[in-house]
Amino acid sequence: MGDNGKPLHALVFPYPTQGHVTPMMQFSKSLASKGVVVTFVTTHHRHAQIAQANSSSEDPVLLEARNLGLDIRSAQISDGLPLDFDRSARFYDFMQSVDSMDEALEELMHSLNKTEPPISCVIADTLLFWSLDVTKRFGIPWISFWTQPVGVYSIYHNFHLLRSHGHYPPRGTGGLDDCIDYIPGLPKIQSRDLPSFLQLQDTSSDYVLDLLMKSFQSARRADWVLCNSFSNLEPESIKAMSTETPILTVGPLLPSSYLDSQNSRDITVRTSFLAEYQPSTWLDTKPLDSVIYVSFGSLVHVSKAQIEEIAMGLKESGQPFLWVLRPDIISSEISDCLPDGFMEETCKSQGLVVPWVPQLQVLSHPSIGGFFTHCGWNSVIESIAMGVPMLGFPLWSDQYTNCKLMVDEWKVGLRLIGGHGDNKMIHREEISSAIARLVSGEEGKEMKNGVMALRESARSAMNTGGSSEINMEALVEALKPTVH
Ligand code: UDX
Repeated sequence: MGDNGKPLHALVFPYPTQGHVTPMMQFSKSLASKGVVVTFVTTHHRHAQIAQANSSSEDPVLLEARNLGLDIRSAQISDGLPLDFDRSARFYDFMQSVDSMDEALEELMHSLNKTEPPISCVIADTLLFWSLDVTKRFGIPWISFWTQPVGVYSIYHNFHLLRSHGHYPPRGTGGLDDCIDYIPGLPKIQSRDLPSFLQLQDTSSDYVLDLLMKSFQSARRADWVLCNSFSNLEPESIKAMSTETPILTVGPLLPSSYLDSQNSRDITVRTSFLAEYQPSTWLDTKPLDSVIYVSFGSLVHVSKAQIEEIAMGLKESGQPFLWVLRPDIISSEISDCLPDGFMEETCKSQGLVVPWVPQLQVLSHPSIGGFFTHCGWNSVIESIAMGVPMLGFPLWSDQYTNCKLMVDEWKVGLRLIGGHGDNKMIHREEISSAIARLVSGEEGKEMKNGVMALRESARSAMNTGGSSEINMEALVEALKPTVH
């Protein structure tokens, strides 16, 4: 309850892409389980996509909330584009359109305030920087939600240091080996480990960087900053950022059934944008720790030549594999991307290729021995929480930094070398030998032991008395006196 005796009412607004909607929905469930009324905002387009993927005639968010007995409400606003606009093919146009959703948000907040209880705070994705001004017009707290690691937050927050040390603007491929040892809380990295927008310049990075700069200016004015990480994973970055900003780690944001095997509630995650293929029967036939799970998240595109090389690398490794190949992995127009005969021969004996799976369910299956991942933050933290070592293949955005931390700081995986620009390709021999290192031998065993230890920390953080749970409680407490 707030000061006025009415329950707190949080408007939660993720950036409308998969890697942001999923953790913020999970966060909403945690918040609602503490008695806070939550209105979860998505765009009309994503809402329709989720409903279609879940074959649900009812709003899947409402359905989920009702199953769990939580007061989570659902609201949609327009991203300004027609429903049939190809957001995957024209991603940067989509992003620019999202930047102009302020009027729609303000209108929604006015209409929500005509119902009970009135909105008492807005918890918006850090990238929705313009929601700060809208929120301040209502005189309520604005909380910024960062879906990447605290270390990456520290890089953007301290962007001025990259400038003053001469590492921004980037010096091109020749500067990728430069050492960066001055970001507070972050271990020593190289320029090649920075988020992609800071490594090499092009028109699209200029746009995203401008968006990030605006986002981090707004975030400096946030009442709190929340992050999907946990204290034992990034103690130094959290410590360094805490002196600058009121930051709280609240992760890993996963359904409690995956963190605590005793808990049978909260199993479903109805936020997938694509229909899920259920691979458990196939996985059940595979030996313990043998299967390589391959997935590159919801956004990145990969060239046809690279897909073919990955296919051959998987084949040559001889390990069973489960490969998620999104229908738009090359582009919305190209559906045929595997080498001739691969599906008929290799997949018959060794692997399974599907368009989308329930990833957490896959990662928690005992047959999974490693995760060949693009190092999207959700994938990394999910893999850690499920105790699966990784093969990192970063392609875009924070994935380079996530990969660096995962390999050199936490020592729970290997990086596929590849390269930048034209040399970006990773080759079949590299893939098959990295798989062999991951699933067998002393090195593989050490990474498995390391990830199992982190898995325990991840679970403790979310349990009663754990750091993330304490932070959630503290957030709810702190919101109470500010209610009108
Ligand atoms: C992007 C960025 O890459 C990421 O680093 C950032 O933090 C959020 O935005 P994305 O590329 O989609 O996200 O990767 P990731 O962060 O790994 O998120 C993908 C999500 O989709 C994960 O929660 C994963 O469990 C889910 N997923 C993926 C499935 O449920 N099924 C699949 O088949 C593949």
